[in-house]
Amino acid sequence: MKAVWWVVLFASGVLSEPRCRCLHGDSCWPTEDDFAQLQSQISQPLIHPVPPESACYPESNSSGNCTDVQTNTFTGTWRSDQAGAMQATNFETFISSNGTIEACYLNTALGFPCEQGSIPTIGVDARTVKDVQAAVKFAADRDLRLVVHNTGHDYLGRSAARGGFMLWTHRMKNITASPSFVPEGAPENETYYALTLEAGVQWHEAYDAAHVNGRLIVGGIAPGGSVGAAGGWIQGGGHGIFSPQHGLGVDNVVELTIVTASGEHLKANSYLNSDLFWAVRGGGGGTYGVVTSVTYRTHDISPFTATLVLCSPSSSAVRKDILTEYLKLWPGLSDAGWGAYLGMSTAANFSVTFVAPNVSLADTNATLAPFLDAVRTAQEDAVIQIIPFDDFQTFYQAFFGTPDTEDGLNTELVTRLIPRETFVDDPEHLIDVMMSLDPLLLFHVAGGKVSQIDPDSAGVNPAWRNATALMYSAAFWPEGVTVDEYRVIQQKLKDNLAVLESLAPGGGTYLNEASMYEPNPQHTFFGDHYERLKVIKDTYDPTGLFIVASGVGSEDWDSSLNCMLT
Ligand SMILES: Cc1cc2nc3c(=O)[nH]c(=O)nc-3n(C[C@H](O)[C@H](O)[C@H](O)COP(=O)(O)OP(=O)(O)OC[C@H]3O[C@@H](n4cnc5c(N)ncnc54)[C@H](O)[C@@H]3O)c2cc1C
Ligand SMILES: *[C@@H]1O[C@H](CO)[C@@H](O)[C@H](O)[C@H]1NC(C)=O
Ligand SMILES: *[C@@H]1O[C@H](CO)[C@@H](O)[C@H](O)[C@H]1NC(C)=O
Ligand SMILES: *[C@@H]1O[C@H](CO)[C@@H](O)[C@H](O)[C@H]1NC(C)=O
Ligand SMILES: *[C@@H]1O[C@H](CO)[C@@H](O)[C@H](O)[C@H]1NC(C)=O
Ligand SMILES: *[C@@H]1O[C@H](CO)[C@@H](O)[C@H](O)[C@H]1NC(C)=O
Ligand SMILES: *[C@@H]1O[C@H](CO)[C@@H](O)[C@H](O)[C@H]1NC(C)=O
Ligand SMILES: *[C@@H]1O[C@H](CO)[C@@H](O)[C@H](O)[C@H]1NC(C)=O
Ligand SMILES: *[C@@H]1O[C@H](CO)[C@@H](O)[C@H](O)[C@H]1NC(C)=O
Ligand SMILES: *[C@@H]1O[C@H](CO)[C@@H](O)[C@H](O)[C@H]1NC(C)=O
Repeated sequence: MKAVWWVVLFASGVLSEPRCRCLHGDSCWPTEDDFAQLQSQISQPLIHPVPPESACYPESNSSGNCTDVQTNTFTGTWRSDQAGAMQATNFETFISSNGTIEACYLNTALGFPCEQGSIPTIGVDARTVKDVQAAVKFAADRDLRLVVHNTGHDYLGRSAARGGFMLWTHRMKNITASPSFVPEGAPENETYYALTLEAGVQWHEAYDAAHVNGRLIVGGIAPGGSVGAAGGWIQGGGHGIFSPQHGLGVDNVVELTIVTASGEHLKANSYLNSDLFWAVRGGGGGTYGVVTSVTYRTHDISPFTATLVLCSPSSSAVRKDILTEYLKLWPGLSDAGWGAYLGMSTAANFSVTFVAPNVSLADTNATLAPFLDAVRTAQEDAVIQIIPFDDFQTFYQAFFGTPDTEDGLNTELVTRLIPRETFVDDPEHLIDVMMSLDPLLLFHVAGGKVSQIDPDSAGVNPAWRNATALMYSAAFWPEGVTVDEYRVIQQKLKDNLAVLESLAPGGGTYLNEASMYEPNPQHTFFGDHYERLKVIKDTYDPTGLFIVASGVGSEDWDSSLNCMLT
């Protein structure tokens, strides 16, 4: 009788060990034969990602070219072509429980060995839906730590995981233009001029396609356009400088396709699998399945005026005068559909780029006059350029065409969405906070159209709908720091997070550009959409194949995300 009970309890899992992922190096890790079987189902050779810097370590087996790494390591587009690279190198590293930082540093003179860190050791270079399905089934059957890796831009490290199995989407590059796209199941007269982008398409490629078709697409704005257009960007929300005119990325999706944990390939839109369609639009990358394509509506090209302001305030009093005039412009400008990027730090200049859709040069100049006057008063030879554009492409090439050469650094962010009411009710506090953070970015990518859309129409954090801007600070640090030095950097980030939180207590932020130390990511990243997102996640991924840092469902797992909490 006792023995029977034992068997029943064991079989029901009551006395079993907690469920943990099977990681590289564990005895359960797939054998050569298992991988050979997977190989027979996919279109490309299995890949063995390594941190790119390993090419500079003769003892590593990397086939890479060290000169190539040294030349290109800070370039975003180059990094995105390396399966083993993250854009911010700290996410390639791994901190052991004993405090050892395992990394592969570019600077070989530091004398550290080159280690794999958090880069998965093997994976699938997916080119087709069938490849994605084979990889998902392989990982699900063996309970591997599945890592969906597109461009590696993630700031929460979600596209890397030590001992994991990589599904690399970067080379799924198809783009299809459809002048009269009808979502499946929609009435025939619901048509869009659409662009369908496969999972690996990046913004510079999507912008070229939109231009060729004489259309505007709302996308991310990074120099060189290396951010993915159909991966993490859209699944976290997706903002661009044209969002105040046309909405967030998620507001412009009309259909998507996705391989779920069961291996099924589903289409989702407002008529089919509409719960999944809702959740994927803002509920976070790497959480509901592998998105294989996203269909975006595009917009008519309309003229706009861009303004560039660059100056070096001579004192903090002067900086404050400029900021005071700047902040008086908002949220009025976002109501009129303007976007802007402001950046400042003690080490560099004060810079702002404004985009004024459908506003003439003269009207732009008149609207910005009090601010521009303050800039000229502060510095006679400040750079002020006001340039009308007929189309997006010319602007993008002029302002952002040169690939980013400031990637490949150790970087972490802290951010908050700043509600409209903070600009209106408490501009003094806003200025004090902006003066206290270094560096400081303020991106006016909300307001306008973003605020006019029903917060419950997509899973994205409803805090976006009340926001006027996204505020950032950041930390950058050199290779080779000790774990104690890193703890000091972490503490400073946490302190700055508290400063940002004071601007809108209980508010929200953008999960794609956020801190790993958010005390309550469920609320801060998803607001009151969390419960519904969790229900949908559990429906499509009942066993938790797709778990990422701070993502929906991650609270069911331990801090390594490898063992389920019981
Ligand atoms: C230089 C730079 C500029 C940026 N500019 C902007 C900007 O202008 N606007 C903006 O909104 N954000 C911007 N971001 C933030 C960006 O949105 C996030 O880094 C985002 O996570 C990038 O997604 P990715 O697919 O390119 O990168 P990855 O790091 O490869 O993926 C990010 C996350 O999405 C998941 N994922 C990727 N592809 C898929 C897929 N097909 N299916 C399921 N899950 C997937 C990954 O598992 C991971 O969790 C920028 C980031 C950087 C570093
Ligand atoms: C390099 O490859 C050889 C042979 O495949 C292997 O024995 C060795 O462990 C590898 N070295 C490293 C550092 O990966
Ligand atoms: C290595 O990379 C450099 C710089 O990109 C290039 O000039 C050189 O030809 C490459 N060498 C080899 C052997 O491919
Ligand atoms: C720390 O742990 C790692 C394994 O995670 C081990 O390789 C290393 O030797 C340890 N270092 C020290 C100083 O104990
Ligand atoms: C890419 O898209 C074209 C249509 O634009 C289609 O004919 C082709 O089959 C697609 N290729 C893949 C691999 O999906
Ligand atoms: C589509 O047709 C229906 C019925 O004729 C009409 O009610 C609806 O307004 C139309 N929708 C659009 C987007 O034209
Ligand atoms: C700072 O701005 C001045 C113009 O005011 C410009 O000449 C200079 O190159 C800028 N410096 C940096 C580091 O951007
Ligand atoms: C641009 O402005 C004109 C005049 O104010 C207006 O008629 C037109 O609809 C606007 N176009 C867009 C795309 O906003
Ligand atoms: C902008 O307006 C100012 C007056 O505020 C004027 O002196 C200047 O010439 C205008 N610049 C342009 C480019 O129109
Ligand atoms: C947005 O503002 C409205 C009106 O003030 C308020 O009711 C709502 O709770 C706010 N939503 C969020 C997510 O802050």
